[in-house]
Amino acid sequence: MIIESILTTMDARGAVNFAPMGVEWAEDEIVIKPFLETTTFKNLEATGAAVVNLTDDVLLFAQGAISNVAFPAKPATVVRGVVLDAACSWREVRVAALDATPPRARIVSRVVHRGFQREFLGFNRARHAVLEAAILATRIHLLPPEQIRDELARLQVIVDKTAGPRERDAMALLTDYVRRAPRPEQSAAR
Ligand SMILES: Cc1cc2nc3c(=O)[nH]c(=O)nc-3n(C[C@H](O)[C@H](O)[C@H](O)COP(=O)(O)O)c2cc1C
Repeated sequence: MIIESILTTMDARGAVNFAPMGVEWAEDEIVIKPFLETTTFKNLEATGAAVVNLTDDVLLFAQGAISNVAFPAKPATVVRGVVLDAACSWREVRVAALDATPPRARIVSRVVHRGFQREFLGFNRARHAVLEAAILATRIHLLPPEQIRDELARLQVIVDKTAGPRERDAMALLTDYVRRAPRPEQSAAR
């Protein structure tokens, strides 16, 4: 099963990177599959450690999908890395095996520490809708604009029915980003 996380990694000099990543979940082993051009991949290759943060705050997924952001965080317990203040719980992991076959690496990691900060509330449809919208926002260069527009409109209905303020803000951020993004033919012309 894939669980959507905010993965925090560090480079050799201690600069922290925050990125939404879907990871293959198991109790003692987590598989991370970053594309080779991501900072996440470079950091994992260089330092061999990460923190898999589980949070119900989808605004972080929205912001992380469309920009390079930093979130409030504190030092991890066992690995060299950080835990999000917004994490409900987290896993600290160390790389056990790394396969860098393009375009997407497959990195098997071992769980070396588990932490808990607060309850993860039950299912909320708007949160899931925002996750889908965040993924769409990372694919604007791959999908036809009409398909993105139609899917966002469908997801907006769910957000309007079931969201709280964080989910509404996250959805507004993503729809605004998609609306402003250059069309594929415009970016090709550059
Ligand atoms: C919910 C969600 C899941 C994602 N999962 C992955 C993933 O498994 N692998 C990946 O390379 N990018 C994934 N992305 C896209 C990355 O978050 C995005 O490319 C990010 O810019 C990479 O950041 P980095 O270069 O700072 O590591 C995902 C995005 C979202 C919104």
